Formats: sequence, structure tokens, C-alpha cells
Amino acid sequence: MSTSPLALLDSLRIGSVDFVSPSEIKVLLDVEAPAAISLNTGTPRPFPRVNGYVLVPSDEGFLVGQVEWITVERSPYPKRKGTQQDFGLIDLPFPLRKLSLTPLGTLSFGNDDGKGHVSFNFRRGVGSFPSVGDVVFLPTPEQLRSIVESGENRRVWIGNSPLAENAEVKVDPNRLFGRHLAVLGNTGSGKSCSVAGLIRWSLDAAKAERGTGADPNARFLILDPNGEYSRAFSSDKKARIFSVDAEEENVAPLKVPLWFWNSDEWCAFTQASPGVQRPLLRKCLREIKSIEGANQESQLRLRQGCSAMLTTIEAAISTGRGYEGWKFGPTLQLIKEDLEEFGSQFGDFSDRLHSCVQTIDSVLGADGQTYQRNNGTTGYNNFSIKSLNEIRGEIDELVSELGNGIQISQNKEDLPIQFGSFEFGAYLERSARTEGNPQFFDSLIMRVRGLLAEARMSSTYGTDGEETGLDEWLTEILGNSDASNGTVTIVDLSLVPAEVIHIITAVIARMTFEALQRYRKLHPQHKTLPTVLVMEEAHTFIKRYNEVSENESASSACCRLFERIAREGRKFGLGLVLSSQRPSELSPTVLSQCNTFLLHRISNDRDQELVQKLVPDNLRGLLRDLPSLPSQKAILMGWASELPILVKIRNLPDEQRPQSDDPDFWEVWTGKVDDEEGESERTVDWSEISREWQGRVNSENSTEQAAEPTIEDIAEKDTGEDRPDEDAIPF
Ligand SMILES: Nc1ncnc2c1ncn2[C@@H]1O[C@H](COP(=O)(O)OP(=O)(O)OP(=O)(O)O)[C@@H](O)[C@H]1O
Ligand SMILES: [Mg+2]
Repeated sequence: MSTSPLALLDSLRIGSVDFVSPSEIKVLLDVEAPAAISLNTGTPRPFPRVNGYVLVPSDEGFLVGQVEWITVERSPYPKRKGTQQDFGLIDLPFPLRKLSLTPLGTLSFGNDDGKGHVSFNFRRGVGSFPSVGDVVFLPTPEQLRSIVESGENRRVWIGNSPLAENAEVKVDPNRLFGRHLAVLGNTGSGKSCSVAGLIRWSLDAAKAERGTGADPNARFLILDPNGEYSRAFSSDKKARIFSVDAEEENVAPLKVPLWFWNSDEWCAFTQASPGVQRPLLRKCLREIKSIEGANQESQLRLRQGCSAMLTTIEAAISTGRGYEGWKFGPTLQLIKEDLEEFGSQFGDFSDRLHSCVQTIDSVLGADGQTYQRNNGTTGYNNFSIKSLNEIRGEIDELVSELGNGIQISQNKEDLPIQFGSFEFGAYLERSARTEGNPQFFDSLIMRVRGLLAEARMSSTYGTDGEETGLDEWLTEILGNSDASNGTVTIVDLSLVPAEVIHIITAVIARMTFEALQRYRKLHPQHKTLPTVLVMEEAHTFIKRYNEVSENESASSACCRLFERIAREGRKFGLGLVLSSQRPSELSPTVLSQCNTFLLHRISNDRDQELVQKLVPDNLRGLLRDLPSLPSQKAILMGWASELPILVKIRNLPDEQRPQSDDPDFWEVWTGKVDDEEGESERTVDWSEISREWQGRVNSENSTEQAAEPTIEDIAEKDTGEDRPDEDAIPF
């Protein structure tokens, strides 16, 4: 090839500009421009090709255009005059090949290395547009690579660009994860592999960059409803895997204790009605979380009793009924007896209770307060307001002392403060009974009972008596300082029952978010702890919901939470990665907060339509490829990529792929399956599956487990040892 730059440029010429608008440039191709393969750049390359790049010289260097469509038009005149006419291409009188370009950005000249070799820099945006008649060129391989390999901080290699000389596509993790990433595509299009790859390659690159051989201080939390990721990372010893059914060696039991749940999550799970059930549930949560230490429930019960007395006395004072001694005297006597009874039950508070009794005694024993009736009963003269106030003051002080005044701040109900689940159940039941219409609370009580009695989830809910500390949980889920206990956490949600999966997911995501909020708050310079939360099958957890529905369902509560994380997570160092098959079912709020998209094959028209709306008009051309993308190829666009680009994602070796192989129907049908054990057929033992399903012990002798424990059984087991007065607690 000629060495003269001008001659080289001339050999790359393919046509001229025919039409210019800010969003579209049309090009008339020269007769001699390549029709299938271009050789003029030195390396064979398909041309013209949809989504390929071409250059138009401009003030700053070149305008880069991406081919949107190619057509042949019938022209009234030949493009060339004279003998060299453009016949023969196609059987039209004067066929003209035309291209439409989307202006993408500018390729400017960079540094000269002194040997006549000039580098190029690409940036998005077009400063000056060409004019009609300007020449259009094919980019050289070097220019092509400069277009794709533009941008700073190209740190993680994720794949190659087949449209640009297989240039390496590298991304900046700060951009990729910093402002939420959505990985969208049909089933089997390669989303999970891409997500697993992005995580793995980011970690590898960070480890290499550290240079010390130490694992990076990174935190990835994968919420995995299909249980497919444990395989992808199990060769990494540093992945922590949690599952409800932790039978395998490297899998730990998943813990999401009931005291982590905030009041909204409780309300959503129990489907508490907004009118009566929700206020009671919130009140009980607030109160039980307000009392620290053991015997929360009995302390609450005492407080409840004393508060009721206080209300009676206050009512008597405010209505002046206290003057009517004959009426109020017997009530006061009853209050005294109740206090004495409490004194015998609650040893810790017997002194205070006794002093209340003494105050009442001194009021009753005052001169002329009581008298003996002829029939031997005691009569009461009117009480003075002063004396009633004395009693009121004493009981008031006691009520404040119980549970340190039970500092019932509004948000206490939402804090992860430990309480006994069964004590809470009992307290809720009794509180419901003391309400005006106890039957209104039946459905609420039933749901809570069901929750507490769920034997299979007892370890997750913390109802099996095993305690989990909040800090311990955070260390396990989010990693310790320097993430030396592992960089990836996989929460396998595949065995979580359908009715709680949304709540469990929401609780884990919320706890992560709030922990990071608090991390930033307490950090001396208010720095964040970068963490990535991966949500697979996002369309089930971040599903559009009906705003007007009065009763918040678990699914909408979960979606609302993710909307909040999508809106606010960035400020606290929490990046979201969503993977979904149905972008049109995702919450629009969450989707609109995602700044980077990795789009795999999408064939459904509604989904395509939605994805089209996410990109500016002039970039939609590339998305026309979406229905025909093979697996492993995807379009990367948004903040992490200087321009939308077709990427062939790097190959993940088999053992690093999530476990989601396509089913091998034919091999099974024809008996050609050869797995590692050499089995050539898929035998079926439904009895084993059904036993496992029904939660029965899988052994020949003891085929059945005892019937599921009732709430009473569990309550007794749970609370009986450390509570001497268990009989006093009605269930
Ligand atoms: N980067 C890759 N490297 C190697 N194989 C890949 C890659 N991407 C996709 N594949 C192949 O495609 C198959 C399906 O990919 P994957 O499980 O990621 O699809 P998916 O989009 O997550 O599907 P679903 O929506 O059903 O979960 C994989 O089993 C694998 O064989
Ligand atoms: Mg998948």
C-alpha cells in the first residue's frame, strides 16, 4: 500500500455526503466502493455493513458515523458522467448505493510519536457537521480500535468488538457498577454468564492491579433466586454461600431473623389491614423493640397493666369522678390488689410496686377517708384531687421506669433490635384481645402464628433459638474489614418458600443498604464502602406495581425498596446489577436509574420497544440488532461505554459458568447422556423427591418426622427455661 498519507486517504474513500441533519447523514457510495469485503484498509473487512463505522473529515479530525441502513436507490441520472458509469451493479437504470449514518462522535488527532505515527482520540459528541459533498472514508484498523478503545480507565477486559477489528472492550468498574447496570435479554441469551464474568474479571483485574497477590477489598452480594451462581464461584474458595438448606459443605445456613424485619415488611408479609391491624402491629413491634434484655414480654405485660391503671385514675381526675368516693373507692381498692399481685409476679419491680401500694394505703388510711357501714362493708368518702394525683404520680413513675420509660421513638419499630419471636407473638395476641374488636385481628394473628410455626424456615427466621448478632450477620453478608473473608457473597434463594421470598430478599437488600448508609455516616471523612448488589431475575423482585393498591403486597414492598436503592444507593457506594428477561415488567423507576445497559438478544416486541426508549433517538440503529444477537454477544451502552458497542463477551470456562445449561432433551431421549459417573439414563425416584419435598427425614426406619410443632410447643420450648412464670402467659 502507498506510504503517502494522501494516497492512503484516497484509497480509503468510499463516497460523499448527500444529506446532513443533526441526527442523520446520508452518503452516496462511489461506484468503486467495496460491495462485500473491503481490502483497502489493509485487512479484509466486511463493507458496507450495518453498524460498521465510517469517517467524514471535519475541523477537529473526523466525524465518526455508524451505518444505520444501506440501500440501493434508482437514480434518474448516472452518478458519474462520461464512460465510467455505474451500470452493472443491479438491474436498475442508474442504481445508486446509499448509506445512512448516525453521527456518534469525533476522532481527533492525538500525539505524533516522531516516526510519523499519529494516534487518535475518540470522544462522544459532534462539534461540527460535514457539508454536502464532503468525502467519506473507511477507518483504518488503528482508527477503528481508537474508536472502540476510547475512554479513560479502561481497566477490566470484558470482551471484544467484532465490528471493530476485534478491538478489546474494556470498562471502568467505577462507571460500570457505580451507577447501576441492567443486563437484559431472553432466556438463554447469556445474561447470567455475563454477570458472573463481569464480577470475576473485575476481581481478577483488581487483584492484578494490587500486585501483592492479596484479594481485592471488594464486595459483591448476589441474590440468586435460581441457585445457579454457587457453581460459578465455588472454585473460588473465597465465595461465601448461604442457603436455607445448607447441606453442602461450603454452604452456610441463611439467616434473616424476624427481628431484622422492619414494620413495613411485617405489614406486607402479614397483609395487615391499614385501618386497625397495621397500627396494632406497629405498636407492638415498637414496644417489644423498646425494651432491652430478657423478659421483654413480661415487662411489657406489667407496663400494659400499670398503664391501664394510670388511664383509669387519670380519667377519674379529669372527669372529677374522684370526688364521688362511693364510686371510685372500690376501683382504687382493686388497683391496689392488682399492684400487690404484680408485686408477687415481677420480682424485679416489687419494690416500686410496693411503694405504689403504700401510697394508695396512705390515701385510703387518711383520717375520715373510709368508714365502716352498718352491714360491715367499707364506705368511701370523696377523694381529694391532691391525693389522687399523688397515686397517679407514683404509678406514672413506675410506668416510665419499666423499660427505661420505653423510649418509644417513632422509628424504633424499624430498627433491627433483637426480641424473642415467640414473646412477640404472645404479646401481639394479648394486645389484640384487649382491643375493642378482637375478631378484627384474627387474620393477622393467623399469619404471625404461621410464620412462627414454619419449621423449615426456623433457622432462617431465628425461631429455632439460635441467636445471630447483627454485627456477625453483617460480617458474613458484607464481608469483614478488607473483605479478607471473601469478596463474593451468594445468597441462594431457590429454597425459600414463595410466600416469603420477596420479604427475605427485601430484608437482605435493605439491611445491606442501611448498613452502607450508616458506614458512610460514621466514617470520619464520610467515605463510602463500595459494594455491588446483584439481583437476578429482577422482573420478579422489581416488578411494576399498582400505585393505587391500598394493601401493600410483599412484592410491591420489595420493589419499592429496590426503587429506593436505585435512587439513593450511589451516594452510599451501593451499585445495583439487575439481570432480567422481561424489561417491560420491571419497575420504570429502577430502569430509569440504570445508567449502563448490557443488552443481549431481545425478541419480544414490547421489551424491544422499552429498551429503544432508553436510548437517545440517534442511537437506536444499533438496537435493531437485538432480536438477532447470538448468545454471548451483547450491546453495551450507557455510562460505562463511550459509545454503544457490540461486544462478544469473553468466554467463560465451563466450571465458571452459572449452572444453567440448556436441557439436553435429545441426549436423554436417545440415551446418549454421559455424565461423569458414566450414567447413560435419567432414572427417577419420585418417592425420594416427595419425601424431601414434604420435609420428611430420608431414612427407611424413621420415614416421618413428628408433625410440625404447634406454636404452643415451640413457645414452650423457646421460652420455658428462662421464664419462671410461663404459665402466666396466655397463648
Ligand atoms: N460468556 C460466555 N461464555 C461461555 N458460554 C456462554 C457465555 N455466555 C453464554 N454462554 C452459553 O449460553 C448458555 C446460557 O447462558 P445463561 O445461562 O447466562 O443465559 P441467561 O440469559 O442467564 O438465561 P436465563 O434468563 O434463563 O437465566 C450458557 O449455558 C452457556 O453455554
Ligand atoms: Mg440466568
